[in-house]
Amino acid sequence: MAIQWFPGHMHLTQKAIAERIKNIDVVIELLDARLPASSANPMLAELTQGKPTLKVLNKQDLADPERTALWLAHYNSQSGTRALGLDASMAAPAKALIKACFELAPNRGGMVKPMRVLICGIPNVGKSTLINTLTAKRAAKTGDEAGVTKLEQRISLADDFYLYDTPGMLWPRIIVAKSGYNLAASGAVGRNAFDEQEVALELLDYLKTHYPALLEARFKLTGVADLSDEQLLEAIGRQRGALQGGKKVNLQKAAEIAIYDFRSGVIGRMTLETPEEFARWLAVGKTLDAQRQVKKDAIELDRKIRFKKIPRPDLRPSR
Ligand code: G4P
Repeated sequence: MAIQWFPGHMHLTQKAIAERIKNIDVVIELLDARLPASSANPMLAELTQGKPTLKVLNKQDLADPERTALWLAHYNSQSGTRALGLDASMAAPAKALIKACFELAPNRGGMVKPMRVLICGIPNVGKSTLINTLTAKRAAKTGDEAGVTKLEQRISLADDFYLYDTPGMLWPRIIVAKSGYNLAASGAVGRNAFDEQEVALELLDYLKTHYPALLEARFKLTGVADLSDEQLLEAIGRQRGALQGGKKVNLQKAAEIAIYDFRSGVIGRMTLETPEEFARWLAVGKTLDAQRQVKKDAIELDRKIRFKKIPRPDLRPSR
């Protein structure tokens, strides 16, 4: 299954970011701490033209703390990049964000050269929640100012610190198959764009290998690592009374339970990828994508030849 999702308004968001970026000093990229790389928009790097970037691993309360530390170290080792973990329970996140931005762009500050920051993130990553916390005290949204499009809001976090908000944005083609599943499991992708049973099976396949004890405790099961993904989904459905027509498990219901329990964090703190795993998935995704492109080009060439738009290569005059 390929999970693809790019509603029309996301093209507009993309345009708005491309326009705004010209006058931006630092980009804050809000990531889901449970799937940092999968929730990173590959289009953003292109759009932001190598601007200093602060990666904020949000919802860290739901993520595996050891893996969050791995991801923070991974991002902090990249040039022009800083990373920090955050969650909605933190009372005053503004201080940490402002400090990290000034470290990334030390030449900014003061009324003449205020810090101008763009905040981006995929849908459901927690951007509105964070912005609400940030603006709770200052309540200084100035979205109707000239030069600030309807697609973004300007928020003043300090007299010399402006934050430009953008709507949540996904990207048109997800080349890492696992990222599609992880995004769907996290709630970033609209419900209609994926098959819950398929997503739940992928999720359980990963969790039974990496977090078997948490699964066993939550669903009162034993030996989950030895079950097939289908057996595990069925066992969860049975345990939770998701039955239909007597004793048969309603697999759709079981899948919804597994996904919901993951999203809400009741199974425990879990992260669906490590930097090293993601690098492997990306390499495979790129290879498959290149193969797909070769096939597509061959089909296109064949179509052109058949409709006589160009001569067959073997009939071209030799020089
Ligand atoms: P968005 O603007 O990026 O689309 O996301 P939004 O802030 O609306 O947050 C999406 C969901 O994630 C909300 O839950 C929100 O409460 C939850 N959330 C945001 N930040 C955090 C965090 O740091 N930790 C945890 N655990 N959850 C967070 P919801 O179920 O959609 O709504 P509700 O429960 O707030 O009613």
